[in-house]
Amino acid sequence: MPARIIVGAQFGDEGKGKITDFFSAKMDFVARYQGGNNAGHTVCVKDQTFKLHLLPSGVVQKKHLLIGAGVVVDPKVLLEEIALIESLIGKIKLTVDARANIIMPYHVLLDASIEGKQGKIGTTKRGIGPCYSDRAARIGIRFEDLVDEKILREKLHKVFSIKKKILEAVYGKHLDFNEKQVLKEYAAYGKKLRHYLGDVSTILDSALRQKKRVLFEGAQGTFLDNDFGTYPFVTSSHPISAGALVGTGLGLRKIENISGVTKAYTTRVGEGPFPTELHGKQATLLRKQGNEFGTTTGRPRRVGWLDLPLIRTAHRLNNFSELAITKLDVLSGFKEIKICTHYKVGGKKFSEVPMLSKDFEKAKPVYKSFKGFNVSGKEKTFSRLPKEAQNYLKFIEKNTGVKIALVSVGAKRNETIPR
Ligand code: GDP
Ligand code: IMO
Ligand code: MG
Repeated sequence: MPARIIVGAQFGDEGKGKITDFFSAKMDFVARYQGGNNAGHTVCVKDQTFKLHLLPSGVVQKKHLLIGAGVVVDPKVLLEEIALIESLIGKIKLTVDARANIIMPYHVLLDASIEGKQGKIGTTKRGIGPCYSDRAARIGIRFEDLVDEKILREKLHKVFSIKKKILEAVYGKHLDFNEKQVLKEYAAYGKKLRHYLGDVSTILDSALRQKKRVLFEGAQGTFLDNDFGTYPFVTSSHPISAGALVGTGLGLRKIENISGVTKAYTTRVGEGPFPTELHGKQATLLRKQGNEFGTTTGRPRRVGWLDLPLIRTAHRLNNFSELAITKLDVLSGFKEIKICTHYKVGGKKFSEVPMLSKDFEKAKPVYKSFKGFNVSGKEKTFSRLPKEAQNYLKFIEKNTGVKIALVSVGAKRNETIPR
């Protein structure tokens, strides 16, 4: 099948937006299959920077955009994003699946409240977890409901008083909105968004049968997967490659390419284990050179060396056909660069992420050192990269068993080296 899935191989923010934009040129459709506006994907073309939260990054290449059933949609954010993008590049073509769940104001308030009470995850506070919880509990409001005022009224009435009670009694919150106001506001969003309603599953099935090209854009990253990530420090959906089919409503089929996107080092926003995390001067320098501040929340990202046990595990979970290495230029200026080859846990060696969380929390990284290099962003071919940088990349290939198909040496579209 002429399809490609882009997946983050680490903890999110690997540069999926840039890589999606790069591959979108040859695509007919670009689909998001999970997550919501917790995502922040950046695309830089010449002097213009697009920060996308809900619209697939294929928007910059003017492709038919799809938001699948597995995505949670904040309608206010979607309308704002459409307005902003259309003011920059003109009309877009978008279909939102009828089954996508809607993030309601009580989800956003619950997200912030739960954080305080039930231990810290460091969520983006966009209502993602509570919205997916309602979906699983079968009390969610879907896109098909949002666009039909009568059904919206009925569904909202069923849940609103319960949510209000929980927020007030359990979390001591004061709601500055009532049911009538929410209905009015969301019915208006529904009216404005109605013409985007569609069946993403049917569109994709027919597109793939006609050999049209489809790109699936993952949000978050493998280790934020609700089952296979560093639970409970994860998101509430499935960023891994299998999630692309579930999240758009496609049966199992052969996917031509599964691209794992990884930075040349590691970052993480929010809480949770991070064996190769750096602190002090080196961390400050890496954060500064990589401009490692969250696209969605602006929080400083935690930074550390590249962690191969993570990438090997991500390969098992996603079955990558290739890797795209981003932000190689950011390592410029370091005298010594390190790669974690495996972990030690109480004298035992692990070359992948240990099965038990308690082991992963104790994992001590074992490093191989590399001589530093300078990458300017002007290099157009692999052979033009400094020998030390080539060695660094070849070491990653050899020790993960996945070939590197793309090296990114700057944020801009043309600062990309195909291999
Ligand atoms: P995503 O969530 O995976 O799409 O990644 P983000 O957009 O949140 O974060 C990646 C950041 O790195 C963005 O600001 C990109 O513009 C930037 N970026 C991507 N690739 C490169 C690269 O090769 N070099 C540099 N210096 N920046 C890059
Ligand atoms: P993109 O698509 C990095 C993190 C949050 C938090 C955890 C749960 O830009 O790579 P959530 O709001 O999803 O319930 O938060 O997941 N997180 C991300 N970290 N990039 C993202 O998206 C993220 N989306 C969520 O920081 O630790
Ligand atoms: Mg991001």
